[in-house]
Amino acid sequence: MRALVQGALVGPGALVVGDGVEVPRAAAGEVLVKVGAAGVNFADVMQTRGAYDGGPEAPYVAGFEAAGEIVAVGDGVDPALLGARVIGTGPGAFAEYVVMGVDSLARVPAGWRDEQALGLVLNWGTALAALRPLGQLAAGQVVLVHAAAGAVGQAAVRLAKHYGATVIGTASAEKHDVVRRLGADELIDYRAADLVSEVRRLTGGRGVDVVLESVGGETFGKSLEVAKRVTGKVIVYGVAGGEASVSNWELNFKHQVHVIGLHIGVLGQHAPEMFAELMAELDKLIEIGVYPPGEPTVYDLADGPKVLAELEARATVGKLALKP
Ligand SMILES: NC(=O)c1ccc[n+]([C@@H]2O[C@H](COP(=O)([O-])OP(=O)(O)OC[C@H]3O[C@@H](n4cnc5c(N)ncnc54)[C@H](OP(=O)(O)O)[C@@H]3O)[C@@H](O)[C@H]2O)c1
Repeated sequence: MRALVQGALVGPGALVVGDGVEVPRAAAGEVLVKVGAAGVNFADVMQTRGAYDGGPEAPYVAGFEAAGEIVAVGDGVDPALLGARVIGTGPGAFAEYVVMGVDSLARVPAGWRDEQALGLVLNWGTALAALRPLGQLAAGQVVLVHAAAGAVGQAAVRLAKHYGATVIGTASAEKHDVVRRLGADELIDYRAADLVSEVRRLTGGRGVDVVLESVGGETFGKSLEVAKRVTGKVIVYGVAGGEASVSNWELNFKHQVHVIGLHIGVLGQHAPEMFAELMAELDKLIEIGVYPPGEPTVYDLADGPKVLAELEARATVGKLALKP
């Protein structure tokens, strides 16, 4: 089969299209999916550099999110699933076929094309988990969404507006219009403006109730500063700008805020009831149109190296997809 193979852990430039890659086999508890479209995630970029915890060693077939049709099932999996169109995760999704654990699957919503379902769990599920069960966002509160024009960020803006919050987004200036159209109340170009003083100005000095923190690096400290003292929550789910830390001294004397880590895969494994509630809530949001069919920018598999390089360079907007 055709697949994108990462030859060495030196970045997206080391991705090459292979034509003779062996089709994987579904083992017990797994299904084989004929990929309609694969989702590109920031974690793919991190994996190309060996920077993702527990990521694969090179060489490996890249990608881990796909939507498509189940064409084979492993032992113990209900054969009635054959032919179902699903979205899920499994190693090697930038390929014509990928194997996925049956537990990671959700149905492609009725009437949606495969690519429109990408991001259902990894983007919308992550954004919803950050805002609601973890961030406890309520109507009338203020949320700061970093990387608001990105795939997770756009989902978060829509969701936060639906739940009645005021949304302050950060994004590169040329992406502001897109985020404003989604309903964001205020946008900050974090490269031109001082984030902390801008957020203080916009919140009358009070700070925000919830910060969606996916950037890290120098931004992490700023996120801690702009969260409301005592009740403010900083939900950490990404490290695009690098590692950062906060000490117990700082939490005691400087940043009296809640710092909460989130990884959607770990949430699914260790809090299955919360995960099921998230999925049920997303179903409802799809039904009432708050969560519309996705509109990813779709590329050919061969464009993968370029697409990942652009994602790394902050040159992309919204969800990206590859067609095998
Ligand atoms: N924990 C989880 O379960 C989970 C699940 C999904 C995603 N994530 C994380 O959520 C974040 C968003 O993921 P995504 O796939 O939706 O990507 P994305 O937001 O579409 O792309 C990343 C965006 O982040 C912004 N950014 C700010 N600083 C950056 C930096 N130093 N390097 C690169 N980008 C930077 C850029 O937007 P601007 O140009 O507008 O600044 C860039 O376009 C990532 O950190 C990802 O790892 C975590």
